[in-house]
Amino acid sequence: MTHHDSKQVLESVAAVRARWSGQARVGIVLGTGLGGLAREIEAEATIAYPEIPHFPQSTVVSHKGQLVCGRLGGQPVVAMEGRFHLYEGYSAAQVTYPIRVLKELGCSILIVSNAAGGMNPLHRKGDLIVIEDHINLMGVNPLIGPNDEKLGPRFPDLIEPYDKVLQERALEVALEQGIVAHRGVYVAVTGPNLETRAEYRFLRTIGADVVGMSTVPEVLVAVHAGLRVLGFSIVTDLCLPDALEPVNIDEILAVAGQAEAKLRRVVLGVLGRLDA
Ligand code: HPA
Repeated sequence: MTHHDSKQVLESVAAVRARWSGQARVGIVLGTGLGGLAREIEAEATIAYPEIPHFPQSTVVSHKGQLVCGRLGGQPVVAMEGRFHLYEGYSAAQVTYPIRVLKELGCSILIVSNAAGGMNPLHRKGDLIVIEDHINLMGVNPLIGPNDEKLGPRFPDLIEPYDKVLQERALEVALEQGIVAHRGVYVAVTGPNLETRAEYRFLRTIGADVVGMSTVPEVLVAVHAGLRVLGFSIVTDLCLPDALEPVNIDEILAVAGQAEAKLRRVVLGVLGRLDA
């Protein structure tokens, strides 16, 4: 798959429609260690990825790989429990294919989340970052290839990839709930290795607050498709080049798991006031 084929998207949608007839409004992508939100959904259908034609098949054991359709915070939602990463060997087109399906299911808003390394020395492990902008250092772009004007424009503008009103709502909810949240810039790399000290120093210098291995491909396709995007990172480890400690993936997962409740509360608050 080099680019998205609208006929395939319609076939994927038909498979979901066979199980769920709701009109989705919000698509949610749950990042590593952040699957807890899926259990808050009043699920009307849970569809394993292998049951959806043209969906990439998950290879990573820690990722569940199912679409949870139902209601959350009073809104009709479709959540991806498990996402696809470039480092697993999927192409950028495969990683972002589900976003086209979410759009075709009726979503006008996409909420994306991830676990990320924190490079801003004022941030702490477990803090929530409301993504205000991003830098794509993945060296790939899911929009490369023939452009289907039915899906979106050839040259999408990225002046505001992350919706300002949704960012404000998220920060308001966090403040009200006493949750530490910061606006921040996310830089995406492919992984799977963590960064060198020199790379962290570089990534901080070019203006990023957090670094991770996901999200940007999905956001590019969402913007292309005209979705309003809200993005969150959880700072799972501190990546300060002059005080760098060895990574511990179990600890990253543990921090994400602990911070997941904050993400859940903020997302629920934002969904509850979408029409406010
Ligand atoms: N780099 C890239 N991805 C990450 C990191 C990191 O330091 N921490 C958690 N995800």
